[in-house]
Amino acid sequence: MSEKKAAGGLQGIVAGQSAISTVGVGGIGLNYRGYDINDLAYKCSFEEVTYLLLKGNLPTQQQLDELKTYIWQKRQIPCKLKQILETLPKESHPMDIMRTVASIVGILEPETKPGQEYEICIRLISLFGPALLYWYHYSNSGIKINENTGKDSIAENFLKLYHLKSEIDPLVIKTFDVSLILYAEHDFAASTFAARVTVSTLSDFYSGITTAIGTLRGPLHGGANEAAMQYLEPLKSISQADQFLNSRYQSKQLIMGFGHRVYKKEDPRSPIIKDFSLQLSKTTNGDPTLLAVSQHIEKRMIEEKKIYPNLDFYSASAYKQCGVPTPMFTAIFVISRMTGWGGHLIEQRSNNKLMRPVSEYTGPAKKQFVPIEMRNKANL
Ligand code: COA
Repeated sequence: MSEKKAAGGLQGIVAGQSAISTVGVGGIGLNYRGYDINDLAYKCSFEEVTYLLLKGNLPTQQQLDELKTYIWQKRQIPCKLKQILETLPKESHPMDIMRTVASIVGILEPETKPGQEYEICIRLISLFGPALLYWYHYSNSGIKINENTGKDSIAENFLKLYHLKSEIDPLVIKTFDVSLILYAEHDFAASTFAARVTVSTLSDFYSGITTAIGTLRGPLHGGANEAAMQYLEPLKSISQADQFLNSRYQSKQLIMGFGHRVYKKEDPRSPIIKDFSLQLSKTTNGDPTLLAVSQHIEKRMIEEKKIYPNLDFYSASAYKQCGVPTPMFTAIFVISRMTGWGGHLIEQRSNNKLMRPVSEYTGPAKKQFVPIEMRNKANL
């Protein structure tokens, strides 16, 4: 077996085969199962994309209707999960809630036989939002929400449950839905790769998803949308944005929401979410200052550093204008990426081989063993 030298962070290493998405491969941009991300974002719903990623093709109207009914049925929070959610502190991070929900459902509704992957995926996609918001409202104000808002889409259900309203602005729903489509799949991203490694050991599906959630959380991956909003929030003018950027440049700190391992120019998802964030900024509940500051930072980063915004940068202002609190941003990413993770885990299992690479050894040469009674600092 020929061994290649290690690449830092596995950069540029082809770690396997996948038929799910192209992330800048061959200069054809981002496609899910062959469909351009622009078509999917502007012309599809997240439910259609869910079907596409899990089943391999777009649904017919009948298949979509059946999926919507299935999602509605799978939205119900088990009583035992509600009891556990009621005990979790309000200071918990939403990503800890998501990881815990995946784990608890894996106990309450375990994977017991082959062929349950699709059912588990739809269960988690449908349940994650209601469970998170059950915990949120109960821990903050003692309210036990009714998770069943009828056959609403995942986006509308989430927004209704968060805002505790029966009507949500259609542009807010559309923006949220588009964000779910954009976050749904991204080839061997760190969380997807981690999940594939887990199931490659023949571990259960829920363990794969729990692995993925833990990996997504970090600010170099999914946590970047939350981290971007944390620095954007206090910036109320262009001069404050300039001060912020100058000080980050000086201290050589990363600016979250910029740069990408694969896209070295524009992230094809960024102009789409920016479009919706800009549309929201022009509405009565919009935040034009946030958009002006964001656009200024984008312009300077491209001109001065040649580093482009990734999806997380304008997702931050989009979610903020949907009225969603910053700590929930990465948890929303989980709901969306559950579709891509699901597609990848099904694919991994269809042609499984244990993932077990080797490292390039950099430790000491072979040493003479020294019994403990003869050890001293000089002979170790
Ligand atoms: N802010 C400032 N500088 C950045 C940067 C950012 N967001 N992203 C990359 N750079 C710089 C690096 O410091 C490095 O500079 P150097 O050559 O002087 O050391 C150069 O650009 C190349 O970056 P590199 O770290 O090799 O890229 P990578 O492929 O390893 O990293 C990311 C990709 C995503 C990890 C990186 O761009 C990053 O940390 N971005 C911020 C976090 C983020 O938004 N993550 C979400 C990704 S979708």
